[in-house]
Amino acid sequence: MKRRLVVTRTMPPTVTARVAAAYDARFLDMVGGFDAEIFLAALDGADAVLVTPADRIDAALIALMPVSLKVIGTFSVGTDHIDLDAARASLLAVVNTPDVLSFATAEIALTLMLMAARRAGEGERLVRALAWRGWTPDFMLGSSLEGRTLGILGMGRIGRALARMVDGLSMRVIYHNRTPLPADQAHGAAYYAGEDEFLAACDVLSIHLPGGAATRHWLNADRIARLRPGAIVVNTGRGSTIDDEALIAALRSGRVAAAGLDVFAAEPAVPAGYLDMETVVLLPHLGSATHETRAAMGMLALDGIDAVLDGDHPANQLV
Ligand code: DGY
Repeated sequence: MKRRLVVTRTMPPTVTARVAAAYDARFLDMVGGFDAEIFLAALDGADAVLVTPADRIDAALIALMPVSLKVIGTFSVGTDHIDLDAARASLLAVVNTPDVLSFATAEIALTLMLMAARRAGEGERLVRALAWRGWTPDFMLGSSLEGRTLGILGMGRIGRALARMVDGLSMRVIYHNRTPLPADQAHGAAYYAGEDEFLAACDVLSIHLPGGAATRHWLNADRIARLRPGAIVVNTGRGSTIDDEALIAALRSGRVAAAGLDVFAAEPAVPAGYLDMETVVLLPHLGSATHETRAAMGMLALDGIDAVLDGDHPANQLV
């Protein structure tokens, strides 16, 4: 008998095909907000679920899950949408999708850096509005990244992929982590143990922190005040790590020159203050959004689910 798997969102075609072939599958194809009632109703007799960062799997929901359920697979590397302690207490395994999205997410960080520095969003809006009056020497000047310092906050897999990627930009790369990396993983980036020294040295701050209580509003008014004046802030980690009111105020005053944001605390809602600011580039959480990456994420999550159901402990099992 096939195992029963509940899938909350529409998956890439190759992932859907594998699920349909290997499982007794229930596809919920949710769009927008997560509907916990529909989800719970579909769980009857389920062995596993495949959820996404848009689905809030909190302790209250976990408490209502059937005993048949053995594993929660998440189509993401981030797990702040799942109460891992509650899963552990309920003897539920959780598997995620590390590694396979690092390059794609670093690409979006680089895209945002370049767009913010070179006013690409503003320029594109101007062209589309038929408001471009022609080339002049003083028209829409931005700043080059050449010779600037990129500060990577959180030198995990994605931060390291970004450090490798900016090689051609002649940037100096520094990073701040709890602990320094072995030299062969740092790709020449200099470790700054002290937060003050790190912030003061950043021309571009690229945030790669996980979500959750420990990192909530990491970039607050106090830390913004310690950033190098005129810095650019980029975030491809989790929106909750930025105090949006503080960043909006700093962008308005020019203390922060520009920002590139791919993630937001209450997605898909975007704080209104950003919307009319030309100096902010806003993307709809595209970090891992390539055909190849999303297919690989689905395959890795399914590999993990299969392994747990087979009684193994796969490398991508967190709990
Ligand atoms: C993740 O995997 O956590 C990403 O945010 C999805 O792009």
